[in-house]
Amino acid sequence: MADIQHINRQFGIPGVLSFGEGAGGLPVARVENGFAEAEIALQGAHLLTWQPKGEAPVIWLSPQARFAPGKSVRGGVPVCWPWFGVHASEASYPAHGFARTQMWDVIASSHDDSGTHIVFELRPDNTARGQWPQQYRLQLVVNIGAALSMGLVTHNSGQAAFSIGEALHTYFHVGDIGAVRVTGLEDTDYLDKVRGFDRFHQEGAVQVDSEVDRVYVDTAAECVIHDDHLGRRIHIAKTGSLTTVVWNPWAEKCAEMGDMGENGYRRMLCVESANAHDNVVTLQPGESRTMAVRYWVER
Ligand code: BG6
Repeated sequence: MADIQHINRQFGIPGVLSFGEGAGGLPVARVENGFAEAEIALQGAHLLTWQPKGEAPVIWLSPQARFAPGKSVRGGVPVCWPWFGVHASEASYPAHGFARTQMWDVIASSHDDSGTHIVFELRPDNTARGQWPQQYRLQLVVNIGAALSMGLVTHNSGQAAFSIGEALHTYFHVGDIGAVRVTGLEDTDYLDKVRGFDRFHQEGAVQVDSEVDRVYVDTAAECVIHDDHLGRRIHIAKTGSLTTVVWNPWAEKCAEMGDMGENGYRRMLCVESANAHDNVVTLQPGESRTMAVRYWVER
């Protein structure tokens, strides 16, 4: 990866977008425009913050997050790819794939009346190639505006078909988890990781009063986080994704994890747009697929 000053000269946009050193010395993109402020680490193309003007932060970043080369950051939007969760056969490979801990390149930036656009591309190192020896191009296209849009584009540039699991593993900031409900998943089936991956049916809205780790399958619906404490609704619209994962570790796991902050579980909820388990995606040679999300706040 080129040095951060060089990236700034090439892709910085005066008054809107700059590249510099962030927490732990990790290079970051900083956006401040008429709509919002945001920070994105180049490691993992990991969006750390997004705060529309006049609004409380929409994305949760743990106050105890660790920033170090090759380590995933607790909070923000980890990019899980090319597998979701534990690797199917190699327990020593990193959970949720290698994309979230590799350094990505910046390949384009622009600004217009919808916001600031940045395109990141992953060129894997030898470790990643050893774990997943496929030929591909992977890009994350981000737009920082009054809404936050992200598109994860996978292109199969090899001669053989391959399958991927993927997720935009977004940690949303909530006022208090006890005052939150998620709509949009009614009448769908989910695999419950807390109960041995058994399959259950979702009846009404999702509410969280204990550990929740659910993989909702075959659902393309928009979800809404109703947050009575902050008096707002966060909309989560998606395309190219048939799985939605809802995760909150609750008190005990939160305390064990060590990077959640004290009672951090009360102020976050992951609603992840994904293709996982029943919905892993197969790409033929030459094929491209995009999984995209759009988040916005309504009061
Ligand atoms: C969720 C999984 O997507 O991510 C959970 O469903 C997991 O099982 C969580 O605990 C956090 O994963 P990690 O690897 O970032 O600690």
